[in-house]
Amino acid sequence: MEAAKILNEGKAVSLTLPGGAEQRFHAIWLRDNAWDESTRAQGNGQRLITLADISPATRVIAATADERRLHVTFDPGAHEVSYDLNWLAEHAYDGFRPRVSGWVAPEIETWDATLSGRLATAEFATVSVSDAALGNWLSAIRRFGFAKLSGGPVKSGALLDIVDLFGYVRETNYGKIFEVRTEVNPNNLAFTGLGLQAHTDNPYRDPVPTLQVLYCLENSATGGENMVVDGFRAAERLKQEDPRGFDLLSRYCARFEYTGSTGVCLRSRRPMIELMPDGELVGVRFNNRSASPIVDVPYDDMDDYYAAYRRLSELVDAPDMQVSFKLQPGECFIVDNTRVLHARRGYSGEGSRWLQGCYADKDGLLSKLAVLEMQGERTR
Ligand code: OGA
Ligand code: ZN
Repeated sequence: MEAAKILNEGKAVSLTLPGGAEQRFHAIWLRDNAWDESTRAQGNGQRLITLADISPATRVIAATADERRLHVTFDPGAHEVSYDLNWLAEHAYDGFRPRVSGWVAPEIETWDATLSGRLATAEFATVSVSDAALGNWLSAIRRFGFAKLSGGPVKSGALLDIVDLFGYVRETNYGKIFEVRTEVNPNNLAFTGLGLQAHTDNPYRDPVPTLQVLYCLENSATGGENMVVDGFRAAERLKQEDPRGFDLLSRYCARFEYTGSTGVCLRSRRPMIELMPDGELVGVRFNNRSASPIVDVPYDDMDDYYAAYRRLSELVDAPDMQVSFKLQPGECFIVDNTRVLHARRGYSGEGSRWLQGCYADKDGLLSKLAVLEMQGERTR
């Protein structure tokens, strides 16, 4: 192992990390990320100090590395801290990462209709008792933004047991759970037999519910199939075909509104394609039913904005983009509602159709998955 080198009069340190890469770390970064008892509560891991407790003149006055750790002494205070080299390797930031606008996180895989052949699906009885099976199922949701679950109880409220596997229900004006069946005076077109274009739910909320579960209790009516489509793949295709259109849908806000129930007036102003400041694709909002007048696009760009909106609409409806299935009683699907759109074919005739729906959030799911993954690593 090469010794650590002090750079730029102590403003940074450079060393070779496990894996062989030479990486630089700033003194201020190292000091802020110290794990010693004066910096972090050893029980809960939370930071005890603020930046005001760290001198802006912080520099490294001594640095050595052995096989496992980097040992640093900071000035002022002659404060000694050591760092696990693997931890440093995991958190290294000294690399050139080309970022093209619209890039997706490495744990995400975008898909089209060909996902049908390798649909992520699991059995309720299995994920309820096996951490490994639950981990695989949750990991598929993180990767594809979608998964099915079969073999659940055919019982009103059973979808709450699904959410219990990983997190918490997000209650809304539609209730903790909502009935998706034909109603006489529906407060939402979802509660009719009409077909529904591919959409993300509730884009008029800010923040939107980030997960949605739709659970089937009856589905003997003719029609009523569901389709799901990866909004991220649709956005990628739009970008390929029409980079300016992609740019318009990500740079300008759309507006969404719901006022269909007494005492409810939900409004949001957000782009249909949402990017992080560094260009990461993080969200798609698309819902023909609740889009309200778009007023944040300059006059000169409106025609092109609508052309891009139309193309995105075609892409989310395209058969080569959609995975379709008909839920059986006791089956459900879960979508990442910031990414994957769902649709329904109209239904009618003999028989009945009854789904229950609810919302939940990704923070709980990703936390549960991270814990399962850490446990898995420990037992390996
Ligand atoms: C919904 C919805 C689809 C269906 O309730 O949000 O889109 O299959 N329902 O009924
Ligand atoms: Zn919906």
